[in-house]
Amino acid sequence: MVFIFLCFCLQARLVHPLNTICNPNDSKALEGFQNGLDSRIDGWGNNSLYCCSWKGVTCESSSASDMVQNDSFQSSSMWVVGLELAGNGLKGKLSDSLMGLTHLRTLNLSKNFLRGSLPSNLFDMQNLEVVDLSSNHFSGSISFGSFDAAICGVAGHLEVVNLSSNKYLGKIPFGFGNCSSLQYLSLGSNLLTGSLPEDLFGLPKLKTLDLHDNLLSGELGSNLGNLSNLINLDISVNGFSGFLPDVFINLQNLEQFSANSNKFSGRLPASLLNSRELSFLNLNRNLLNGPIEFNCTAMVRLTFLDLGSNHFNGSIPDSLSSCQQLISVNLARNNFKSQIPEGFKNLRSLSSLSMSNNSLYNLSETLKILQHCPNLTSLVLTKNYHNEVIPADSKFRFKNLKILAIANCGLTGLMPSWLSNSKKLNVLDLSWNHLEGRIPHWFGEFTYLFYLDLSNNSFAGEIPQSLTELQSLIFSNTSSVQAEQTENFPLFKRVNHTANTNLQYNKLWSFPPSLDLSYNMLTGPILPEFGKLQHLHVLNLKFNMLSGQIPGTLSSMTNLETLDLSHNNLSGMIPTSLVCLSFLSTFSVAYNDLYGIIPNGGQFLTFPESSFEGNTKLCGLQFVSCQSQVPQQTEASVVNTTNDTEGSIEFVGLPFGIGVVSGVFVSVIICFRWRFIFPKKSM
Ligand SMILES: *[C@@H]1O[C@H](CO)[C@@H](O)[C@H](O)[C@H]1NC(C)=O
Ligand SMILES: *[C@@H]1O[C@H](CO)[C@@H](O)[C@H](O)[C@H]1NC(C)=O
Ligand SMILES: *[C@@H]1O[C@H](CO)[C@@H](O)[C@H](O)[C@H]1NC(C)=O
Ligand SMILES: *[C@@H]1O[C@H](CO)[C@@H](O)[C@H](O)[C@H]1NC(C)=O
Ligand SMILES: *[C@@H]1O[C@H](CO)[C@@H](O)[C@H](O)[C@H]1NC(C)=O
Ligand SMILES: *[C@@H]1O[C@H](CO)[C@@H](O)[C@H](O)[C@H]1NC(C)=O
Ligand SMILES: *[C@@H]1O[C@H](CO)[C@@H](O)[C@H](O)[C@H]1NC(C)=O
Ligand SMILES: *[C@@H]1O[C@H](CO)[C@@H](O)[C@H](O)[C@H]1NC(C)=O
Ligand SMILES: *[C@@H]1O[C@H](CO)[C@@H](O)[C@H](O)[C@H]1NC(C)=O
Ligand SMILES: *[C@@H]1O[C@H](CO)[C@@H](O)[C@H](O)[C@H]1NC(C)=O
Ligand SMILES: *[C@@H]1O[C@H](CO)[C@@H](O)[C@H](O)[C@H]1NC(C)=O
Ligand SMILES: *[C@@H]1O[C@H](CO)[C@@H](O)[C@H](O)[C@H]1NC(C)=O
Repeated sequence: MVFIFLCFCLQARLVHPLNTICNPNDSKALEGFQNGLDSRIDGWGNNSLYCCSWKGVTCESSSASDMVQNDSFQSSSMWVVGLELAGNGLKGKLSDSLMGLTHLRTLNLSKNFLRGSLPSNLFDMQNLEVVDLSSNHFSGSISFGSFDAAICGVAGHLEVVNLSSNKYLGKIPFGFGNCSSLQYLSLGSNLLTGSLPEDLFGLPKLKTLDLHDNLLSGELGSNLGNLSNLINLDISVNGFSGFLPDVFINLQNLEQFSANSNKFSGRLPASLLNSRELSFLNLNRNLLNGPIEFNCTAMVRLTFLDLGSNHFNGSIPDSLSSCQQLISVNLARNNFKSQIPEGFKNLRSLSSLSMSNNSLYNLSETLKILQHCPNLTSLVLTKNYHNEVIPADSKFRFKNLKILAIANCGLTGLMPSWLSNSKKLNVLDLSWNHLEGRIPHWFGEFTYLFYLDLSNNSFAGEIPQSLTELQSLIFSNTSSVQAEQTENFPLFKRVNHTANTNLQYNKLWSFPPSLDLSYNMLTGPILPEFGKLQHLHVLNLKFNMLSGQIPGTLSSMTNLETLDLSHNNLSGMIPTSLVCLSFLSTFSVAYNDLYGIIPNGGQFLTFPESSFEGNTKLCGLQFVSCQSQVPQQTEASVVNTTNDTEGSIEFVGLPFGIGVVSGVFVSVIICFRWRFIFPKKSM
């Protein structure tokens, strides 16, 4: 038996060479396709007889039995059944000649630079099953060419249609309704307008409907309930309005529903609050209101819940704490007015919780409850708990926290000592409170802390030396920590005193490494050791009472983009070495007591006069002529600009005058030498 089988295989092998010959109609169609492109595809067209060996082409014989019994050339040639050239840098247009591939089942040209409109006869290929033209530059309206009324009138086997991430515009055409095999339809990230065609809801096998990020509008009707096999529905970032239809009882398989950034209003429909398979629900940024009463006895799979930026009100229901699978919960920017339910302590999986911008109260109770959630890594409570006292209970334990924000609450009290147990903190924002006392030294032990915002408080005393020892601001190899996505909702930072302007950080890694101690009552010097923080991007110390000189060592913070020392009592001169900070784009030393010549060169040539104003004895650059202000600066007085002896040595004996050319020349030398004082991997 085995022998016979082997012989059979051998014979099949012998037939094989003939069998690799490409159907001439197909090779012609492929050549036509290539001619429509702006450039040639590598290895195509060497010999059209062998088009089946061209890159991205798959062939199949019409049937194996035909092949053995029929020895004619015609029936042993191969049909092209797949053309898959995703991400090959293809440019140009899709030629109509593609239609010649009568047996094509899979067409995947996603992630190229193809342009023009959808070939009008694309869906005339009756064997098509998978069409992926996503992530190209296609434009124009989606139409089904000669088969205006039905995309699947001919292509009746279509299972996957992916036209996402192009520039298609106009309405979604009527005609999908005949695609009885369609399982996946994505038209996301285009410029489609208008309401949804009725027949889109007549697709019995559809599992994924992705229309996100378009300009679609209108209401979502009860027809939605006909898509009974739907697993994933994404209509986010559109202009849909009206109530959410109460049809989720019919969508028994629905696992993911995203309708964020629309204009849906009214209450959550009862069927949605009882949806059995739903694990991901995102309704962020709508106009929804009323209480939220999830039936967690039914919703056993809910893991991700985002109801942020709506008008929900009432109290945060205790029932939510029975949704034991919850990992991420965002209730921020609503009108909830309550404590958090005691039951939240049972949310063993909870990793991210944001409740900012509501009217929550009793911070002490909140923390007492949440400390029982062992997996909590991100906690955002900003803009609640108005004018409460920050609890000092030293027994609180949040040992897995990576992000903590309790800003804009007007909290009073001292920096709580329980925080010192949260050694994994990456981001800490306690800005816009009334916290007082000293900044504790234990911050230095936070190995991962790279974003610390204590601005707009009443902290006093000196800046602790330990802040210059933050490991993740010294070394840039903390990327593993930063690259981890710990939360799925944005965090906001208020950036403007007077206006309500906010910065939005979507991911942990989008936070710039920062130390913001501005608007406090800090005294004492700016430590020369700040120079060690080579990974720091933002150092903001404005509006304090810092004194002494600006250390020249600050020029070692080679990644610094923002340095704001304005509104302090700093004296002395601006160290010339600061011209070495080649990424510095925002700089201010305004309103101090500085004198002497403003360094000339590097980024300093780009700073406005307002960066230096309020210092009566500063001159230089194009702003104030030095002749009339202070005596010509000498080498010796430049040496005096830094109070760091090591740094000063670099300047001695260098012959330089004042001027751009020599300034730049000197700065090259200065910048080169400074590197040795705090070598990259010191400590
Ligand atoms: C090529 O296409 C023509 C017209 O559709 C058809 O008559 C012919 O049989 C095809 N040839 C092969 C080898 O399939
Ligand atoms: C044609 O080029 C392709 C890709 O380089 C190669 O795999 C194939 O062997 C070539 N065929 C012939 C007949 O040269
Ligand atoms: C040979 O091929 C033809 C056409 O594809 C088919 O009709 C026929 O059944 C095949 N087999 C034999 C034994 O002719
Ligand atoms: C098309 O190809 C890309 C890259 O290989 C792949 O990621 C994508 O899933 C494919 N599309 C379909 C519908 O299979
Ligand atoms: C559809 O295209 C988008 C964008 O290229 C891609 O992210 C998605 O995975 C594709 N879907 C399938 C099923 O391949
Ligand atoms: C599409 O389906 C409708 C009924 O759902 C039918 O009347 C129409 O003839 C079909 N169109 C085509 C081209 O098959
Ligand atoms: C949805 O189902 C209802 C009831 O079966 C039916 O009347 C309606 O025509 C269907 N809608 C679509 C778009 O198929
Ligand atoms: C909650 O869900 C359970 C299980 O599906 C069901 O028995 C119960 O009636 C539901 N409660 C409400 C208030 O809908
Ligand atoms: C919630 O808001 C609605 C109006 O949107 C209001 O009628 C209702 O009284 C509010 N409920 C609570 C508990 O504040
Ligand atoms: C807590 O997080 C860890 C790591 O992400 C995970 O392995 C574990 O399953 C989580 N625990 C619970 C109860 O979800
Ligand atoms: C803050 O906002 C106010 C009002 O919109 C504006 O005039 C001012 O320039 C802003 N300040 C900064 C620093 O952006
Ligand atoms: C250097 O500064 C000190 C005080 O900081 C001053 O006494 C001395 O005269 C200065 N030297 C020169 C050469 O300007």
